[in-house]
Amino acid sequence: MLDTVQEPNHIIDSKQFDPIYLNDLFTRSEAMEALVLNRGGSDLLKHRVMVVLFYQPSTRTRLSFETAMSRLGGTVVSTENALEFSSHAKGESIEDTIRTVACYGDVIVLRHHQEGGVKRAARVSPVPVINAGDGPGQHPTQALLDMYTIYKAFGHFAGLTVALVGDLKHGRTVHSLAYLLAKFPIKKLYLVAPEQIAMPIGLYQHLQERVALESCTDLQAIAGEVDVVYTTRLQQEYFEDPAVFQQVQGQYTLHEGVVAQLRQEAIILHPLPRNEEIPYLVDEDPRAHYFKQVRNGLFVRMALLQQVLGA
Ligand code: NCD
Repeated sequence: MLDTVQEPNHIIDSKQFDPIYLNDLFTRSEAMEALVLNRGGSDLLKHRVMVVLFYQPSTRTRLSFETAMSRLGGTVVSTENALEFSSHAKGESIEDTIRTVACYGDVIVLRHHQEGGVKRAARVSPVPVINAGDGPGQHPTQALLDMYTIYKAFGHFAGLTVALVGDLKHGRTVHSLAYLLAKFPIKKLYLVAPEQIAMPIGLYQHLQERVALESCTDLQAIAGEVDVVYTTRLQQEYFEDPAVFQQVQGQYTLHEGVVAQLRQEAIILHPLPRNEEIPYLVDEDPRAHYFKQVRNGLFVRMALLQQVLGA
């Protein structure tokens, strides 16, 4: 009966999650970690097919989704350069591409080059669509793994001071993460960026109503106060004016002076890929958690696929 057909479990925007969802996801992510360590994986998603469509480059997001599906016994079909290798190059709309691939798979993981592109896809898809990044919009599954990494380090979010650093204007990972952090009683959120690449005003106002928020431009001045420093790459591909890129480049490198200010229990996060924001020397510091993030991403995405597919 058509009227009992349920809406698919799309994952589009980090605002859609609440603390109860996160708590459940984290418990299941821990179970996935144990599963991988003990048995390598399971057959939970056997005979399920995940379609992966990426219109922008990726290393971690695409491969961790594909690994997550493989470790749960499912199958992956993938287009890693959909701008050139899919019928997009022949003028096909995202809607028609999604209607097509939904005939093949049980879930679609989509990275699109335009903000709102994944929402358009979800509107026409009869199977769950997962946003793996939509231009400078959002990247909700990255935010989930970022939150999981913070949770694993501290066991809670209450009372934490977090600094989001770098390209807050175009960085979709910081957008999604900021929305999630604002759902918890954190102590303070610092937005560390020069004016040219500050947080979009709509998101800034959203945060201002929910958390103690402070914008600043001097990372060193606040480094001693923070529990989490989340650094990001300048998203050069979205800068309209190359002169602006030149002006802001290299301003927020985590050089020795900044790292020396960090508290012993603080953690350094980065969604990767990095450019000059974190010198390779910092990798040896026990506070560097960015490769833990990568690893955690696998377990979180396994738990997500389980939930989205109702397994
Ligand atoms: C990020 C992205 O693609 O938004 N990478 C990722 O998915 N881990 C960050 C970036 O490109 O700078």
